[in-house]
Amino acid sequence: MTLTETLLYASSAIVSLVLLRKLQIRLQLSAAKHRSLTGHSRMARRFAALVPFYEYGEDRFFRADDAPDAVAANRRAAFMRLAGLFEQRFAKSAALTGEMQEGVSDLQFTSRYRVPFQFSRYVREHLKGGSFVASSSGVTVTDLDGNRLYDLTGSYGVNVFGYDFYKECIARGSERVRDLGPVLGAYHPVTAYNVRRLREISGLDEVSFHMSGTEAVMQAVRLARYHTGRRNLVRFCGAYHGWWGDVQPGVGNPLAARETYTLKDMDEKSLRVLSTRKDIACVLVNPLQALHPNGAAPGDSTLVDSGRNAHFDRAAYTAWLTKLRTVCTQRGIVLIFDEVFVGFRLARGGAQEYFGVRADLVTYGKTIAGGLPIGVVCGRKEIMRRFREDRPADICFARGTFNAHPYVMGSMCEFFERLDSEPIAALYRDLDAVWNSRAQALNERLRAQDLPVRVANLSSIWTVLYTRPSRYNWMLQYYLRAEGLALSWVGTGRFIFSLNYGDAEFAAVADRFVSAAVAMQRDAWWWTAPQLTNKSIKRRVLREMIQARWSPSMGSMSSPRSK
Ligand SMILES: Cc1ncc(COP(=O)(O)O)c(C=O)c1O
Repeated sequence: MTLTETLLYASSAIVSLVLLRKLQIRLQLSAAKHRSLTGHSRMARRFAALVPFYEYGEDRFFRADDAPDAVAANRRAAFMRLAGLFEQRFAKSAALTGEMQEGVSDLQFTSRYRVPFQFSRYVREHLKGGSFVASSSGVTVTDLDGNRLYDLTGSYGVNVFGYDFYKECIARGSERVRDLGPVLGAYHPVTAYNVRRLREISGLDEVSFHMSGTEAVMQAVRLARYHTGRRNLVRFCGAYHGWWGDVQPGVGNPLAARETYTLKDMDEKSLRVLSTRKDIACVLVNPLQALHPNGAAPGDSTLVDSGRNAHFDRAAYTAWLTKLRTVCTQRGIVLIFDEVFVGFRLARGGAQEYFGVRADLVTYGKTIAGGLPIGVVCGRKEIMRRFREDRPADICFARGTFNAHPYVMGSMCEFFERLDSEPIAALYRDLDAVWNSRAQALNERLRAQDLPVRVANLSSIWTVLYTRPSRYNWMLQYYLRAEGLALSWVGTGRFIFSLNYGDAEFAAVADRFVSAAVAMQRDAWWWTAPQLTNKSIKRRVLREMIQARWSPSMGSMSSPRSK
């Protein structure tokens, strides 16, 4: 063999090895994707674009599961009773909502997506609860019609300590900064105190202020990219990190996110990807996913069957975060805890304290400005820096007109001062034990009464699970409303309790929850044919979609019996 031939063989062997390695790394990435559509954001977008609109006509509405006539009649009568009750009880709130709806796109969106789309129009026409409230007090809100409702919305997670706490933070905080007013750019002195507290609580060196959780996440990812020189971010299947494009790939985002890897949560294959790829800047963790790893935020609009799943295993999630920490350290990947939701809710020191794992960057938001809009990044010094000493033109730009707004800083200062008070310290005491035992007691009552519904919780964050295959679980949100419980637009997908719920107040909520479930059962929404399974429901809905796609005249579906 000549020297040239030897060199040729050697170089082709090297090229083959490199290609094989690349293929192996690519296959590792595929293997680390969750098998659901949620785990495949591009495919999910393509699938979503194909789903045709169709809806159930009045008859089919009550027997989407082929229920017999008597059951459908029972449901119909109950639905109309409920509609009458809503009309009378929520009249003013519903009227103003109707008036405003045309001009508010957000309201149009949320009202449309409260239940699966096949049922949505009919529900919107008949069950008008309204989207206005006039006041709050203790653990309740009062609507325009004077109905006092127990609040389970938690104001998207902002409300950790009760609305009165936040009213005080805002009022006293505003007094503190009144002399300065809305001067921006320069800082009000309370900001120095806030920075001190944030550094102490996060255990991290530096802080930056933003206007929302979404912005804080954007900045954390940008910093990670700047300092690592790598493009890609890793998020875990189903995790919400705000609505910015790169962290919200898939359905809901018109563009495919090119620099995002969505990996399986709590899975060794994902660790393998992190330990082999060289293009990963950061890993984003939303610890709320511990309640439903790999599942998207549960909302009733996707409650097509009873397949919703949730279970929190603290030890398993702690072990997972510990492994993530190790691999990120080994590979120079920035580990970001997105604590916008759970920070200060799980523990005073947030998820880092609760799970005993430290991150490189932590984002906070929601509650920490005492009820005013906020996003915060805390991080290690070397990752937070936005410039390089040796390359003055190479900067990482991040500004925002309203960052560190004096009124927000004033309210945040009040938040941190109150955090040290005895009443707040008392709320953190035995936090998990309190909420776990409440969930367990409620589940025991539900089981004892043979109701096909349960709750699962991560401390004070709850979700409702359904134990019997059904197409009508989303109706429960309206029964709960009739019982005086206020839910957010995601319905029974998420209850967020404020920590100031005392035993008596919680008992009132539990009683109402059970009453609502008893009424659902009595009104035959949970009637089920023996052969019905979650799988058969899904198959049926898929068939309907295919049918609607190929024969658009099916736009409004009637029941086979009614033909
Ligand atoms: C974990 C997490 N990150 C980021 C965000 C976005 O925060 P914001 O709505 O303030 O933009 C949210 C909001 O729910 C969140 O839960």
